[in-house]
Amino acid sequence: MLVSDDIRQASTLPGRFYADRAVFDEVKEKIFASSWLYVADNEVVKNSGDAYPFILLPGVLDEPLVLVRDGEGVLRCLSNVCTHRGKLIVEQPGNHSLMLRCGYHGRCFRLDGSFKSMPEFKEAADFPSPADNLAQVPVREWLGMVFVSLQPAFDFEEAIWPIMDRVGFLPLDMLRFEREGTQEYHVKANWALYCDNYLEGFHIPFVHPALNQALDFGQYDYELFRYCNLQIGIADEGQPHFELPPGQVDFGKKIYAWYYWLFPNLMLNFYPWGLSLNVVEPLDHERTKVSFRTYRFENQPFNRGENQLEKTEMEDEAVVESVQLGIQSRFYKRGRFSPSMEKGVHHFHRLVAEFLAGK
Ligand code: FES
Ligand SMILES: [Fe+2]
Repeated sequence: MLVSDDIRQASTLPGRFYADRAVFDEVKEKIFASSWLYVADNEVVKNSGDAYPFILLPGVLDEPLVLVRDGEGVLRCLSNVCTHRGKLIVEQPGNHSLMLRCGYHGRCFRLDGSFKSMPEFKEAADFPSPADNLAQVPVREWLGMVFVSLQPAFDFEEAIWPIMDRVGFLPLDMLRFEREGTQEYHVKANWALYCDNYLEGFHIPFVHPALNQALDFGQYDYELFRYCNLQIGIADEGQPHFELPPGQVDFGKKIYAWYYWLFPNLMLNFYPWGLSLNVVEPLDHERTKVSFRTYRFENQPFNRGENQLEKTEMEDEAVVESVQLGIQSRFYKRGRFSPSMEKGVHHFHRLVAEFLAGK
């Protein structure tokens, strides 16, 4: 699946990328197992000894993992599978007071994953060995969120620095999760179609007439980085916008929102009131779960535009589901990009092609 670096020449990913189960199996390993994925807010492992078991991408990667906070406050992510006969070790979130014990035959592990003890194994030869430790999975904390990667193909820091570079002036440590602003949507389409749609503002005047009123569409802008990209929405007259400090790179512009997309499946939308996070999780090759999570700056008036967000989402889902049907047509092969409006989609398609080719 070649995607030319030159957007003027390039064709989009072929229809079968979005519809073929075998291609999706490749995407699982080459994209989702190799990238950084948001898993939870770090609230779930606040105190030393806290453990939070989860399955990484249920139905897709299906990897049982556990987040643990050790006695020094260090966060770790471990395989949650006992190295004896494979039972899941931590079944419920809670405090495990600095040791994990498997409930099947009592094997114990330290919070760094190392083997600690096991009954009835005195006569076992070459025991314990490194194979009896729990695997550690790379984990990062950022903006109060936890990210993990099974086999990272790139550094987390390399991926996020462009975001921090621009929004670092905001009181990011004051972001607080808002339960009311949290929604889950199920979309009958491939996860990448949802991303494609997010990555261009081209469709806004056609699909979102109400949103089109708030944005000055003529000034909509795109910036590409290695593993993320940015769309800049400029506020129309009378619409809310950021107060920027002198020296900030967009100083002088009326920024309505910065819409960041982090490869492969995360959207971070910064508004004057806070952050709207969209986590795009494939359920299989043609079904996707999208979680909207809202974080508000403490002490900031909340102006999330509840109805507009919901309306915009419904409008987006309708087009994306329509595309899922369309790309399976015998007559659809690949499309072309608008060089001015589809830079973000082109960037995404190049990354997909790069990861599938294995670099
Ligand atoms: S499976 Fe864990 S102790 Fe046996
Ligand atoms: Fe949209």
